[in-house]
Amino acid sequence: MDKLLIEGGVPLQGEVFIDGAKNAALPALAAALLAEEREVLLENVPRVVDIRTMCSLLREMGASIEEEGTSIRVLPRDLTSQEAPYDLVRRMRASVLTLGPLLARYGYAKVSSPGGCAIGERPIDLHLAGLEAMGARIHLHGGYIEARSERLRGAEIYLDIPSVTATENLLMAATLADGRTVIENAAMEPEISDLAALLKGMGAKIEGEGTEKITVQGTTRLVGTSHRIIPDRIETATYAAAAAVSRGNVLIRGTDPEILSSVIRKMTAAGVGIRSEAEGLRISSGERLRGVDVTTAPYPGFPTDVQAQFMAMMALAEGASIIREMVFENRFMHVAELRRMGADIRTKGASAMIRGVSSLEAAPVMATDLRASACLVVAGLAARGETKIARIYHLDRGYSRLEEKLSRLGARVRRVGG
Ligand code: EPZ
Repeated sequence: MDKLLIEGGVPLQGEVFIDGAKNAALPALAAALLAEEREVLLENVPRVVDIRTMCSLLREMGASIEEEGTSIRVLPRDLTSQEAPYDLVRRMRASVLTLGPLLARYGYAKVSSPGGCAIGERPIDLHLAGLEAMGARIHLHGGYIEARSERLRGAEIYLDIPSVTATENLLMAATLADGRTVIENAAMEPEISDLAALLKGMGAKIEGEGTEKITVQGTTRLVGTSHRIIPDRIETATYAAAAAVSRGNVLIRGTDPEILSSVIRKMTAAGVGIRSEAEGLRISSGERLRGVDVTTAPYPGFPTDVQAQFMAMMALAEGASIIREMVFENRFMHVAELRRMGADIRTKGASAMIRGVSSLEAAPVMATDLRASACLVVAGLAARGETKIARIYHLDRGYSRLEEKLSRLGARVRRVGG
């Protein structure tokens, strides 16, 4: 298994280009299944493992997919299977996003029930309850969810939790349902609005995306269109954290500061210099950062996907800070690894108490999940000595060409096999 070796202490300088958002491209690929004719062309798709996994899944169902750089064409043709097998869903929970489109377009879907993952149990009860409210008959057996429906009907759905992928699944299902669907307490993430923009380009009738109440007027058919995926706000935050802890000066290009305001607010409070320039977001930080408290929350709150990277910053800040993880029940796996590098962090339930230290020491550490591994990269860039990060297959799921991008910013980072 590959490892990443990072020699810390180099202030990052230069500019970095942000890719399209993985968490917008995944639902967009699933939405392409809804098109009855004309291809769906997706541009600015990140070249990450999760996208490759989703393409493999759609191909296994019989979809015709052409990948060309950061563009992906999904040609509409009837699928030969509406099944998402265990070995693919096990690798990527977002495979569950095929459930809504398959049910809406084919009246049938058989999707392996996703297991838990490192950051939590991650049930999909809200997805299933919403689809049942739309008339789907759902059976669970043999580890699979089997859903059937002659034609979904519009429904009034209230999500107990503003789940991102549940909102996406139900939004996609509602586009072809008979009648009007209202999703209340819907997730408001930018990735939801991006999915709605794609669906509207395909002919769907949607209002309220990006607010807590989304209304969909079902139609009978959708057709292909072309769509550019929004920039990845989590990748942006990750490089901002890297620039900050290394006391560098980096221009982050191709991103959209508008969808990152909660992170920009907290990083600014911590003493990071963040300025919008014509070509992008300028991140600079010469002084030692200050400890600030953070509580994660659904959008527009502080994103849970930036919690680990921000903790790496706070581990080196002047003073104490408290980070509360309110979205997932087990998203502090990176704390033990940061402690191996000399961080002073104690966790109690959903809270992590951090006392900043003046420096971290390089150590062999292990990635446990996608964003925890990003946290260790950030910490390694600031630590004294060479940090070895194992199991970086977690990183590859959501970051493309990470060591290349960091090297171009002056970091001393290399990937070694074995
Ligand atoms: C999406 O996951 C993202 N993944 C996650 O990013 C992100 O951390 C998360 O949203 C929160 O922003 C994709 O978009 C592919 P949720 P999702 O449903 O939709 C509970 C990354 O690093 N819940 O909003 O699975 C759930 O257990 C990944 O890129 C239910 O109880 O997250 C969690 O506690 C990690 N029942 C909370 O809601 C359900 O049916 C929020 O989860 C669904 C969710």
